[in-house]
Amino acid sequence: MIDTRNFTKYLTSSEINETIDALAQQLNQDYEGKSVVLVCVLKGGIVFLADLIRKLNFDPEVEFVRLSSYGKGRTSSGTVTLLKDIQTDIRGRHVLIIEEIIDSGRTLRFLFDRLRGAQPASVEIVTLLDKEEKRVADVPVKYVGRKTQDQFLVGYGLDLEEKCRNLPDVYYLKYPN
Ligand code: IMP
Ligand code: MG
Repeated sequence: MIDTRNFTKYLTSSEINETIDALAQQLNQDYEGKSVVLVCVLKGGIVFLADLIRKLNFDPEVEFVRLSSYGKGRTSSGTVTLLKDIQTDIRGRHVLIIEEIIDSGRTLRFLFDRLRGAQPASVEIVTLLDKEEKRVADVPVKYVGRKTQDQFLVGYGLDLEEKCRNLPDVYYLKYPN
């Protein structure tokens, strides 16, 4: 069992659900009838992807990428490497990057540019959470669930050294160190 006593609840699962409903409504309007590829950023994005995809009315393909910029620490290392690439041709198709949280923006800047190089019809970013004030790399984020403060969050796919991804709610750490 994860001891959540040192965590403070930030978003309940029902608040997350409402946030995803609103995002899905926008996406359903904007992507109806289009050939869409969702590119989910492993590992953190999987819980969000699983909930979001079941609210979409169009019929997207799903791909995964894995990038590393954080290692095991809680601060970004600044360099991004691609550990796993997509396995489909996105040329002429509409790509939606699915990310659970954006911090410095370095990870998504790298991914956005890389995907654009494959000549898709469009690339947009969908993120559940956005720490807007932490942005270092300029990255165009069209679909934002909620803006958040600069706090380290865990749960709902977000990890603390690979733990806590399974928590249904999102917490921030009471005593960050
Ligand atoms: P960026 O490149 O600095 O924008 O980092 C983005 C990635 O760092 C996210 O996809 C997460 O995997 C991770 N990350 C950023 N903030 C948090 C957080 O508060 N909790 C857990 N992981 C985070
Ligand atoms: Mg992530």
